[in-house]
Amino acid sequence: RPLRVIGVPMDLGADRRGVDMGPSAIRYAGLHDELVDLEYDPTDVGDLPVTHPEVGDPDAVTPRTGNAKYIGEVENVCTRLADEVAETLADGAFPLVLGGDHSIAIGSVNGSARDADVGVVWFDAHADFNTPETTPSGNVHGMPVAAFLGEGEFGDTDWAQANVKPENVALVGLRSIDRTEREELRESGVSVFTMSDIDERGITDVTEEALDVVGEGTDGIHVSLDLDWLDPNEAPGVGTPVKGGVTYREAHAALERTARRDVRSLEVVEVNPILDRSNRTADLAVELAASGLGKRII
Ligand code: ARG
Ligand code: MN
Ligand code: MN
Ligand code: MN
Repeated sequence: RPLRVIGVPMDLGADRRGVDMGPSAIRYAGLHDELVDLEYDPTDVGDLPVTHPEVGDPDAVTPRTGNAKYIGEVENVCTRLADEVAETLADGAFPLVLGGDHSIAIGSVNGSARDADVGVVWFDAHADFNTPETTPSGNVHGMPVAAFLGEGEFGDTDWAQANVKPENVALVGLRSIDRTEREELRESGVSVFTMSDIDERGITDVTEEALDVVGEGTDGIHVSLDLDWLDPNEAPGVGTPVKGGVTYREAHAALERTARRDVRSLEVVEVNPILDRSNRTADLAVELAASGLGKRII
C-alpha cells in the first residue's frame, strides 16, 4: 500500500529546542526499511518548511496572538500540513507525519478529517487541552486537542477547528493535566483514560475502550503518538517528560491493538534528539509506528 512520509520540523510550539530534529532522527532510526519490511510502498516527501526562531527578524515570526507563542507560524505550517495530509489520502496513500512538536497535530487532524468523519486516539502524558486563554506556558504544543475541537479562541478561527466530534476523541495515558485545562476537559465530552485507569484495568482493556469510542460511527481513526506517553526511562528524548508513563511492552500492546482497527493516518511527535540517549527515543518511534501500522511477530 502506498504511504507518504511527511516531515514537520516544528519546534515553535515548545520551549525546549531540538524537537525540530525529530524527523531526521526518526528517518535515521531506519523508518524507510521498516516500512518496506511491512510491505508498504513509502514515498518520503521531505520536510515542510518551518521558520527557525534564530532566522530573520524575531518579531516578524513571532505574532504572539493572545497567549499563544508563534501562533501565526503554527497556523502557516498546519495549513500546509493539512493540505498535504488531505492530498495524500485523496491519492489513496497513507499519511505518516513525523514531528516536530505536538502543535502540528492541528494540521494532521484537519487534513485527515477534511473529507471524512474521523475519530482521534491521543497517546500522551498530557491532555494538550489548553487554549490561548488558559495556557500557563503559552506553548501551542499544549493546545492541539482544544484547537481542533474549536475550544476558546480557536473557535473564532477556521484553520484550527476540524470536523471532529469530542465524543470521538480519546486521550490515553494521561498523568499531567494543568489546573487551568482540567475543568474544560471534563466538560468537553472527550474521553479521558489516565495512567491510573491503565494500572487498574490493564493496557489492552483501556486501549480497546478508547478505540471503540473513536471508531464509533466514524470512517477511520487518526492516531497521534506523543513519545512522552512512555516512561522517561524508556523515552528520554522528549522536552516535557513526566514520570510514571507506559512501559515498552504496554506501548507496543496498545499500538498493536490500534492496528487492528481502521487506522487512517498516524503521527509521531515530540522526539527531541538533543535530549535523547543514542537516538533511543527515535528508535522507539519507528518501532511503535511499525506496530501501529500492523507489524506482527509472525
Ligand atoms: N500542559 C503543559 C503546557 O500547556 C505541557 C504541554 C506538553 N505538551 C506536549 N505535547 N508535550 O504547556
Ligand atoms: Mn527550528
Ligand atoms: Mn502532546
Ligand atoms: Mn505530551
